[in-house]
Amino acid sequence: MATEAKPAAPTEDPVKLAEFEARCDRGETIEPKDWMPEKYRRQLTRMMSQHAHSEVVGMLPEGNWITRAPNLRRKMCLIAKVQDEGGHGLYIYCGTETLGTDRAELIDQYLYGTAKYSSIFNYPTLTWADIGVIGWLVDGAAIVNQTMLAHASYGPYARAMIRICKEENFHKRQGYELCATLARGTPAQKAMVQDAVNRWWWPSLMMFGPHDTNSPHSADLLRWKVKQKSNDDLRQRFVNLTVPQAQAIGLTLPDPDLKLDQATGDWKFGEIDWSEFNAVIAGNGPMNRERIAARRKAHEEGAWVREAAAAYAAKHQPAAGQAA
Ligand code: 3HC
Repeated sequence: MATEAKPAAPTEDPVKLAEFEARCDRGETIEPKDWMPEKYRRQLTRMMSQHAHSEVVGMLPEGNWITRAPNLRRKMCLIAKVQDEGGHGLYIYCGTETLGTDRAELIDQYLYGTAKYSSIFNYPTLTWADIGVIGWLVDGAAIVNQTMLAHASYGPYARAMIRICKEENFHKRQGYELCATLARGTPAQKAMVQDAVNRWWWPSLMMFGPHDTNSPHSADLLRWKVKQKSNDDLRQRFVNLTVPQAQAIGLTLPDPDLKLDQATGDWKFGEIDWSEFNAVIAGNGPMNRERIAARRKAHEEGAWVREAAAAYAAKHQPAAGQAA
């Protein structure tokens, strides 16, 4: 079991720290073998590993609908999307390992410790329309966040985001197309997609994290150019992009306070229910227990695959001194 002890950050060499921060300010990319403050390494390990866990947990709510997709085209799209999410997770785990923590330890931290994964994946997928809405809103929110992370100061993370965002764009488009199809379908189909939007809207806004004033990690991450924009700035950008998309397909968003501010061009929105957000990230959301139980089961039942892969690799490793 992971204990996740967090030793105090060591005092950094002030000269090296100043050089490092100057590099970040100049927009240079930090690579794995470059000097970096221990806190930068820790912050990135935390954020990137939580991102990787989110991608993998994110396969569960959608995977649940693969057998029930209404036609072959939709089934193929959904299988491909779920597979992409697994690939994103593996890709980000690889990037995280370049910071010096083994993947097995990272996975242990979320399956048996206290590492987080995105709150959004703790909600149930009740109808087929949820699959469209996840593509449109959840992947849409992920794109807004991750397009910025493609400019993050840490090279392996930024490069991973470029490829991931390309795939997320497909995910969003298939989801929006699914929602548009249902919205112009029968009254029952339109009602089903509207109900799904009503349930997923607020949790999608929560994906961007707490208000800036309540975000303990933002100051470091913004100073070191891991984050390029704050949680609230990205949330606002997502709302501004999404309101016209909802209008275009005749759906409404469940917020009576949504109003265009003519002066700024921003869509002002109501207050998020932070008590719900805090409950979900503390492990008490509607599906937290099921999600973790499903991931633990898969991990434990997959132990023999990892052992077989390690045995195979050991058998085929060239003997010491032998050329590859
Ligand atoms: N869900 C769960 N935990 C969250 C959260 C959320 N939506 N938002 C914030 N938190 C947690 C943080 O992890 C942190 O907890 P910790 O100290 O235990 O690690 C705490 O709340 C305080 O929040 P901060 O704002 O200070 O944390 P950050 O500065 O790290 O910002 C973040 C949070 C915006 C989520 C940022 O970490 C980030 O941009 N991460 C990378 C992107 C990511 O992880 N996305 C997850 C979704 S993946 C996805 O969408 C897959 C796609 O296929 C749909």
